[in-house]
Amino acid sequence: MTESFNSPFSADLERVLIDAATIERRVDDLARQISRDFAGADQLMMVGVLKGAFIFLSDLCRRLTIPHRVDFIALSSYNQSATTSGVVRMIMDLKINIEGRHVVVVEDIVDSGYTLDYLLRNLATRNPASLRSCVLLSKPDRRRVEVQIDYLGFEIPDVWVVGYGLDYADTYRTLPYIAELKSSVYSE
Ligand code: IMP
Ligand code: MG
Repeated sequence: MTESFNSPFSADLERVLIDAATIERRVDDLARQISRDFAGADQLMMVGVLKGAFIFLSDLCRRLTIPHRVDFIALSSYNQSATTSGVVRMIMDLKINIEGRHVVVVEDIVDSGYTLDYLLRNLATRNPASLRSCVLLSKPDRRRVEVQIDYLGFEIPDVWVVGYGLDYADTYRTLPYIAELKSSVYSE
């Protein structure tokens, strides 16, 4: 796939794992499923987890054919490294009260599962009408805690990926595809 070579970061990338057209088709499927499942439900809240989900969330929401609102929450479990600490911190909370509302949490990737598990438990205490998760990528081999994924984009192998919102040390987020980062970049 030649598209990786149009990037200023191409030397850091091992390969393109999921190209832009494939992402687009899958996001389309997910939007159709969510639109169908929540048809008729008012008060749908799409909750994006910053920063990683910002591109996925915006593409997904623009394809929804049902009324919805968007809010953001920011969490952190990594300190600029590729290894999880297992400790999740909330950096920024929602602005909108989700009590009595149907909530879909939109997350970029589930790795150990700690982040999404923490978030779903936290949001559940606020008495939403329903609570589901929509996750672009899952690394099943890395799971440390079983976590509920209601809508999933793709399963991927245990490699560090960047692009389409995902970063390494806050870099590479705006690549239009999902690429595997060379391990030399994060083991330096
Ligand atoms: P978990 O808590 O271990 O499931 O990690 C989830 C969070 O770690 C995600 O929201 C991402 O921010 C980050 N993460 C895990 N794997 C990757 C990756 O391959 N690339 C970029 N970010 C990742
Ligand atoms: Mg994230």
